[in-house]
Amino acid sequence: MKVLMVCLGNICRSPMAEGILRKKSIEKGLSIEVDSCGTASYHVGKAPDQRSIEKSKEYGIDISMLRARQFSYQDFQNFDSILVMDRDNFRDVQNLAKTESEKNKVRLILNVSHETKEKNVPDPYYGGSQGFETVYQLLDKSLDTFIITHFDAK
Ligand code: 4NP
Repeated sequence: MKVLMVCLGNICRSPMAEGILRKKSIEKGLSIEVDSCGTASYHVGKAPDQRSIEKSKEYGIDISMLRARQFSYQDFQNFDSILVMDRDNFRDVQNLAKTESEKNKVRLILNVSHETKEKNVPDPYYGGSQGFETVYQLLDKSLDTFIITHFDAK
């Protein structure tokens, strides 16, 4: 299964989501390929934000080698599941879809877990470091649910 994580800049939220799912997949021996990208092009080619790198490192995940890229239409062909961080990302990606099957690949990442009331992973870019912890916890929980529902593995 191929999963694409999408946020706005591809430097804060989606690289963390990529690192978390990759780690879980390796630990559980699952066959998941993960990538991430942004809807915007501002940060193309850049490493993740230092605060995302540090937060991931705290949990044993190295995302320092990732480099930002922008979403492209080809991604609808290359991925089975496209998990977006917020409603803006959802709208921007769905607007590029040409078929129902492409549209159906796009999901808000927090909608995979029915318990969560907050549907957007809040953008931590302009806030303090607590925002990155919040993002980490939301993603970690949601990706556990994603794995349980798709692979029946805990
Ligand atoms: P991300 O966070 O979408 O989680 O990577 C952002 C990064 C950069 C900007 C906004 C959000 N920016 O406006 O440059």
